[in-house]
Amino acid sequence: MIVVLGSVNIDICLEVESLPLAGETVHARSRRYFGGGKGANQVLAAKRAGAEVAFFGAVGPDRYAETALRELVEAGIPISEIAVVEEETGSANIYVDSRGENCIVVVEGANGLVGADAAATAVQRAKGGLLVLQQEIPFAATHRALELARTCGIRTILNVSPFDETSAELSRLADIVIANQHEWSQLSGGVDASTAMQAWSRRHNQTIVVTKGADGVGVASPLEYFEVAAPTIQPRDTVGAGDTFCGYFAAELDRGGSLLEATTIAVTAASIACLKAGAQSSIPLRHEVLGVLEQHHGNECGTR
Ligand code: RIB
Repeated sequence: MIVVLGSVNIDICLEVESLPLAGETVHARSRRYFGGGKGANQVLAAKRAGAEVAFFGAVGPDRYAETALRELVEAGIPISEIAVVEEETGSANIYVDSRGENCIVVVEGANGLVGADAAATAVQRAKGGLLVLQQEIPFAATHRALELARTCGIRTILNVSPFDETSAELSRLADIVIANQHEWSQLSGGVDASTAMQAWSRRHNQTIVVTKGADGVGVASPLEYFEVAAPTIQPRDTVGAGDTFCGYFAAELDRGGSLLEATTIAVTAASIACLKAGAQSSIPLRHEVLGVLEQHHGNECGTR
């Protein structure tokens, strides 16, 4: 069972030729509304990867919530543990340019009211499974969940995204930390990736996973260090690729896969997620990911 405690957003996606510079006004080719939020994206990825999942978060009593949760409902993810609070549903204004680059401005909204009570319930539910957290809900809730999970012996994954001044403190409480290159450099103080990852992993007795876009993924545990290459693709929209990685990675570990198997399937899923617009609509199903792996590697890592 994968339990995700995290954010729900409505993503307002604007397709532009180039990202606007400060003071510049540009035309968008289209405006589309998608479900989003790092927490919701990650639980959907875990579900599409075949895991049993539960999700804890908050939305507002507004029409945005329906759009924000549509893909979760369609995927059969229970939404009864998502609180309806007196704040607008969180939102993200996302600009995506013709090369697939993006910039995102998030309005916290209802996500800011996820509290320690939700953290405690999520941890209870995660017993015997895996708890997955990000940083789009208040520090207090994420911190409480990580502390409680540690006391109860529940394995945790923290995606330090969006990175902020609390990420270092939170990351010390997690069993597995997932960061992109930029986040890792902020966490580690900008030192050489593989050496620093191995030293960090041994010092804190945790696994560090650093995603590097087209350059693949590096993984350091106290016992090993390895890298997995990313499939070569022409990205259309990279929004949500990191979340797809996290959800798939968690799901594969939960079904008993090794770190290498989890990383291999997750990096392939994340690459496929870059081929379509939208964070959630682009998350592939497990059989599609296995099909691509089979084509490129003959499934040499043995992922079932
Ligand atoms: O990681 C992508 C997500 O970040 C988007 O869905 C958006 O909602 C922002 O939270």
